[in-house]
Amino acid sequence: MTAPLGKDLLGLEQLTAGQINLILDTAVPLKEISERTIKKVPTLRGATIVNLFFEASTRTRISFEFAEKRMSADTVNVASAGSSVSKGETLVDTARNLEAMRIDMVVIRHPASGAAQFLAERIESNVINAGDGTHEHPTQGLLDLLTLRDHFGALAGKRVCLCGDVLHSRVARSNIWGLTKLGVEVAVCGPRSLLPNAIEDMGVKVFDRIEAAIEWADALNVLRLQLERMQAGYIPSLREYNRVFGVTRERLERAPRDVLILHPGPMNRGVEIDSDVADGPHSVILNQVTNGVAIRMAVLYLLSGNTPQLAEAAKGSA
Ligand code: CP
Repeated sequence: MTAPLGKDLLGLEQLTAGQINLILDTAVPLKEISERTIKKVPTLRGATIVNLFFEASTRTRISFEFAEKRMSADTVNVASAGSSVSKGETLVDTARNLEAMRIDMVVIRHPASGAAQFLAERIESNVINAGDGTHEHPTQGLLDLLTLRDHFGALAGKRVCLCGDVLHSRVARSNIWGLTKLGVEVAVCGPRSLLPNAIEDMGVKVFDRIEAAIEWADALNVLRLQLERMQAGYIPSLREYNRVFGVTRERLERAPRDVLILHPGPMNRGVEIDSDVADGPHSVILNQVTNGVAIRMAVLYLLSGNTPQLAEAAKGSA
């Protein structure tokens, strides 16, 4: 049987709108599993999945692990500290040794852009990109799409602005690919030092002022300032950044409509987003986290060769 997504999930750039909608549609019935007292179905029983996290993560790592366990897969977590990577073993040697122990899938987060594809081309197991450098974070893009779709229903014609540190953001790239494929109007807003050159070539509008972005948008996806990836000189100071580009309650109150607020996390409260916005009535930040488990269940399910017609059967108890 041909898996509907192919062998790997490396980014949303490679997916069609049909494949993206298939993942979103598959995730919807899977959400209910996490609401049960016994959160377990037998769908991936017998499958072995390795989570290779070579960079810090809370949401992605834990939600992949929940998704795997809720579908009855056997899981192993590997971090660079404590593994032979810390002794200089290469990524491919690590993965090949894991394959020699007969695994089925690898979920990888890595600081180098392209690491997931590099691995996918060299091993037979399915590879899922859980964030590679500044390239893509496809399951984050998908959970953002699902959260927007839950709120708005049809997405085509809606306006979403990605705000802040677009330059260093793999979340921004996955969102731009996914949103534009589904017919959403996309914009970015931030200081020019934090916007990639020729970002307009990706089909997005550019705002230099947050007030103008808020006036235009139905939803803002507020991006974390990735201070760990900045050498120096991108912004004058955090206080200045918040003063000019911060998403604040005062700015949102001047908007012509209610603006939905997303943030992929972790947040720098009081820098790119104020606490009363992050915790306010238009925030769906924790809905994003909840949807992350269902999206990752759907991706694991589809990559393992299951068809959407089996989604209902997947809901059966273990
Ligand atoms: N959104 C996201 O990728 O968060 P983590 O880095 O905590 O996984």
